[in-house]
Amino acid sequence: MTSTTPTDWWRSAVIYQIYIRSFADGNGDGVGDITGIRSRLPYLAALGVDAIWITPWYTSPLADGGYDVADFRAIAPEFGTLAEAEQMIAEAHEHGLRVILDIVPNHTSDQHEWFKEALASEPGSPARARYWFRPGHGPDGAFPPNDWRSVFGGPAWTRLLDDEGVPEEWYLHLFAPEQPDLNWSNPEVRQEFEDILRFWFDRGIDGFRIDVAHGLDKHAALPDIGLDEEELLAEPDIPDHPHWDRDGVHDIYRDWRRIADSYAGTPEGARLFVAEAWVRTETNRLARYLRPDELHTAFNFDFLKCGWNAEEFRRSIDHSLQTLGEENAPATWVLSNHDVIRHVTRYGRAAGQEHKGAGSVPTDLVPGVLRARAAALLMLALPGGAYIYQGDELGLPEVENLPVEALQDPIWERSGHQSRGRDGCRVPLPWSADEPALGFGTGTPWLPQPSGWKDLSVEAQTGDQFSMLELYREALSLRRSVPGLGDGSLTWRDDSPEGVLAFDRGTNFRCVVNLSRRVVPLPAKADVLLASAPVLDGQLFVGAAAWLRLR
Ligand code: NOJ
Ligand code: CA
Repeated sequence: MTSTTPTDWWRSAVIYQIYIRSFADGNGDGVGDITGIRSRLPYLAALGVDAIWITPWYTSPLADGGYDVADFRAIAPEFGTLAEAEQMIAEAHEHGLRVILDIVPNHTSDQHEWFKEALASEPGSPARARYWFRPGHGPDGAFPPNDWRSVFGGPAWTRLLDDEGVPEEWYLHLFAPEQPDLNWSNPEVRQEFEDILRFWFDRGIDGFRIDVAHGLDKHAALPDIGLDEEELLAEPDIPDHPHWDRDGVHDIYRDWRRIADSYAGTPEGARLFVAEAWVRTETNRLARYLRPDELHTAFNFDFLKCGWNAEEFRRSIDHSLQTLGEENAPATWVLSNHDVIRHVTRYGRAAGQEHKGAGSVPTDLVPGVLRARAAALLMLALPGGAYIYQGDELGLPEVENLPVEALQDPIWERSGHQSRGRDGCRVPLPWSADEPALGFGTGTPWLPQPSGWKDLSVEAQTGDQFSMLELYREALSLRRSVPGLGDGSLTWRDDSPEGVLAFDRGTNFRCVVNLSRRVVPLPAKADVLLASAPVLDGQLFVGAAAWLRLR
């Protein structure tokens, strides 16, 4: 890593999310791995991103795609070895790519040593005090300790059976039963995670994405939420929620920040955090995670939730820039990740239906692709950093018709087959047209790829000037060379027609996005640097965006 890299590289960084199981398979077993990532580092460096974020690669029974960690200091055998991980970190740095890992502090796997020890220990024991074990309600303790619901459906509590099959305590899991929640009021839990941070920082990683960053602190009395089931599942915007976004989480991150900053004198410099925090929108709650002595960045999910609508985008952008700006924190834009319907599909749906489950509402991919191209130019022109989810750059849609036998997301079972879950955005990447598994690897991929994806492969799109991939490559290259992009501020052009977003950056850069229903003229005294659709006679098409250099 060169020492010339500015220490606040993260304020402008474009970070590429690698969902490791589905990125590239190096040994032919149908599952992506570290060997696969290593083989594709040149692709990522040439794409023009600054860093990669790798979803959990730790030892895990994969009950939730690796977000159920059995050992935070070991690599899952299907992904590789610790030596290989270290090798990959070094190679990424040689390619000029920073490396961010995923830390999962809200819960462990039920196969973690701590949980096994807790099961083998008595109620009230120190081993159980690392988690949330409680007796049930009712005469035989037959009812869960409170009314909390699992994010994946069903109650957030599971009852244990002792060796004789006699029911005993319940334990809390805000996600799957295989993911027991840790008790962060326990000093041992805090100590353990601080050690884990150091373990990986000492191996040269540049930062961590914090899973469920808003969930660690629970109300000590575990009170009922008191809403009916439907409201609960909608993750209500209620203040003083007993397990989401409680003030107590901030102390944890102040401690973590001190550790990250203590690496300032190392070749990689101080380390970065990005929070996955789903907090109440229309408040400044997200900004609280980014106070100067806390985390550096947080995904802006508010932007991801917007429909294809100028006012919605404008409100979300202004709100983020204003509230985060108050803490002098940069915004972090994101359009897709491994938990949401891919945005090519979302933008091809009717207003209000964008985020409905895979296969549940009609979708037209023609406007979807057109708008996704424009959204990429919008996102990459906004002040701050941005995340690209693997396959965004190929314009991959959600795979809405995976055969039910193939589904692996716990949501499918937990919802009683009401929701197909998130597998449709996790289908292995197509790299080439002819090879088996479209170049993903030599084995049968763990989720089937649509055969039509050969036309969306990296190979098929490379050199095609109208492809999504070449649009991303060009945009990322311009983002590095055009002054004023990345960190900084924007100035809205309030003289733009209704439904058109137009803003200036730096001294002579303008981004125009046409979300209206008619073509709009671009300013005469401007050169088109890049456009998401052909600009004819100076007109910007419906659903298109352009980057301009003002003369
Ligand atoms: C958020 C992760 O992105 C998601 O994939 C996972 O299921 C939950 N956290 C639980 O760890
Ligand atoms: Ca493999």
